[in-house]
Amino acid sequence: MYEILVREDLAPVTKLFEVHAPAVASKARAGQFVIIRLHESGERIPLTIADYDRQRGTITLVFQEVGKTTLEMGTMQAGDHLASLTGPLGIPSEIENWGTVLCVGGGVGIAPIYPIARDLKAAGNTVLSVIGARNKDLLFWEDKMRAVSDELIVCTDDGSYGRQALVTIPIKELLEAERPIRHIWAIGPAIMMKFCALTTKPFGVPTIVSLNSIMVDGTGMCGACRVEVGGQTRFVCVDGPEFDGHQVDWDQLLARQRIYPEQEQLAVEKWKHECQCAPK
Ligand SMILES: Cc1cc2nc3c(=O)[nH]c(=O)nc-3n(C[C@H](O)[C@H](O)[C@H](O)COP(=O)(O)OP(=O)(O)OC[C@H]3O[C@@H](n4cnc5c(N)ncnc54)[C@H](O)[C@@H]3O)c2cc1C
Ligand code: FES
Repeated sequence: MYEILVREDLAPVTKLFEVHAPAVASKARAGQFVIIRLHESGERIPLTIADYDRQRGTITLVFQEVGKTTLEMGTMQAGDHLASLTGPLGIPSEIENWGTVLCVGGGVGIAPIYPIARDLKAAGNTVLSVIGARNKDLLFWEDKMRAVSDELIVCTDDGSYGRQALVTIPIKELLEAERPIRHIWAIGPAIMMKFCALTTKPFGVPTIVSLNSIMVDGTGMCGACRVEVGGQTRFVCVDGPEFDGHQVDWDQLLARQRIYPEQEQLAVEKWKHECQCAPK
């Protein structure tokens, strides 16, 4: 059992848990994830390790409530326990001194981009960062991102905070200004990563994305997370989650994320019904 030591509400639908998991914290590296179950009959869901503290033996998870499991997770409090937490999984980010790098986080993708930006900064890079969300209420960790970035641009889709722009606009401007950007990481919803990759492709700057395909086992055996990258079948859980964004078959990924809408809707309804019927 893995105790939730801290719960923080970052935005109305975005929550942070600091979880006691010393073995995972001792090995965690930027770019990796864990698979958790809330309870014995819970489904397995992947979440990125957004931060870790080896001394305290904790990892930080940031999640957005989008369906049954994440909604249920949002009802948990400090002192509650996760039934299982497997990891660290996936191949860590390729952190080296590239020179100047650009880190882009959209929505809940701000959480996974943070440890990458932090480690790139520690490796001696000049870190330019762009973070964005639909509106001011959905933004978080501006202070943490500023602390690990040489320059930070903050955008909202509706202009309620920072610059009114999609993240692709400042990316294009930075590349057109011929800033010597050697490597780009872009993490967020699949549609955002697709357009980031399309924006950077004409400039020929390697663009790494972290794919969020549906997962089951997380060990390369079930095939649920398969994606096409460069015309080859790859498994996000063991070959990723980071891939060359210019090589990803985005339309296939987007279609595979939408395979189970009816079952997902039913799961939420059933869970809400059970909550109402549960003895208070
Ligand atoms: C390697 C990896 C790391 C991830 N890290 C994070 C993270 O740090 N924080 C976070 O909030 N989420 C993260 N995700 C996505 C997260 O796993 C899903 O949001 C979660 O599994 C949804 O479960 P659910 O039962 O709440 O919703 P479901 O009922 O399963 O889905 C509800 C809605 O969310 C969509 N959805 C389902 N799974 C995914 C997915 N994997 N990616 C995008 N949309 C999805 C569905 O299409 C559906 O529209 C990550 C996914 C992967 C593969
Ligand atoms: S989640 Fe089963 S192969 Fe990746």
